[in-house]
Amino acid sequence: MSRLRAVPGGQSAPQPARAGSMVKVRVEAPGKVNLFLSAGAPGADGYHLLTTVFQAVRLIETVTARRQAADLRGTITLGLEEPDPAVPTDATNLAVRAAARLAEETGVTDGVDLLLRKRVPVAGGMAGGSADAAATLVACNALWGTGLSQAQLLVLAAQLGADVPFPLLGATAVGHGRGDRLTPLMARGTYHWVFATSAQGLSTPAVFQRFDALAQDSAAPAAPADVPAELTGALRDGDPRALAACLHNDLQEAAISLRPQLADIIALAEASGALRAMVSGSGPTIAALAPDPATAMRVANALTASGLVTGALRADAPVAGARMVG
Ligand code: C5P
Repeated sequence: MSRLRAVPGGQSAPQPARAGSMVKVRVEAPGKVNLFLSAGAPGADGYHLLTTVFQAVRLIETVTARRQAADLRGTITLGLEEPDPAVPTDATNLAVRAAARLAEETGVTDGVDLLLRKRVPVAGGMAGGSADAAATLVACNALWGTGLSQAQLLVLAAQLGADVPFPLLGATAVGHGRGDRLTPLMARGTYHWVFATSAQGLSTPAVFQRFDALAQDSAAPAAPADVPAELTGALRDGDPRALAACLHNDLQEAAISLRPQLADIIALAEASGALRAMVSGSGPTIAALAPDPATAMRVANALTASGLVTGALRADAPVAGARMVG
């Protein structure tokens, strides 16, 4: 893998006042919902070509990166503000891999201590782990004073996972390729979402495998569809009703076939006032679009009272990508 050159100053991502002199950096990055996801057949590498539209939502992951203590210098360690057995804290955590990748790329050997505050549902199809990785890239880039530009961080992000570039960018964007080649999309207005969470996550590879199995039976097209003009138009107009009419997720059927109860949650969200509800990404989180904050509250209350979901989180969108907050 070629090594990116650190560019001090110039067109770089948010920089510390004195590069490399900080002791602690805090970065926030958003979770996402896919407004549109069309998947083609898998390529030789097992990845599916996608056309997707991401929107960043106000469920915010926070990564605090600290200089490593003298006795742990050179190591990358990770802790959780609220311990969660579903989130690994070893080298398999995507945030640790992000720090390691940036260190490898830039030759930095300082190590770092990472602390995660998680607000995006874990394994929920909302790219919480990817947001942690994106925030870690920005945080370590500042802490270490490595000065990579946002374009350079986006390259590293894509190497870490298909969903890692988007939380760097935030707002609303189209993803091509594996979903990692991004083009920002114009969006007006604020969209009011309710996210119904499940205690048990769904594995993204398992959902894509089910998608392939279902596609074999239905002669699905090999290439993903384009983003419909109605959807880009709805975003440009800031029209949630028009947007609701063109929300689409090719992975929904696969996720429901693995977890049939998701269909009941979608039906309940729509019966209680959501303009539309659908599986978020590879699920199992259900994303419900409400016309206004009061209806979002009503939908969230109905979902919580139903006992069908573990939680119902309200979040508006779009919001900014990874940024330093301290
Ligand atoms: O890139 P990331 O690690 O987020 O992807 C997780 C898994 O999801 C991949 O290993 C692959 O099985 C599946 N995937 C896919 N096509 C994509 C993105 C992800 O098949 N475009």
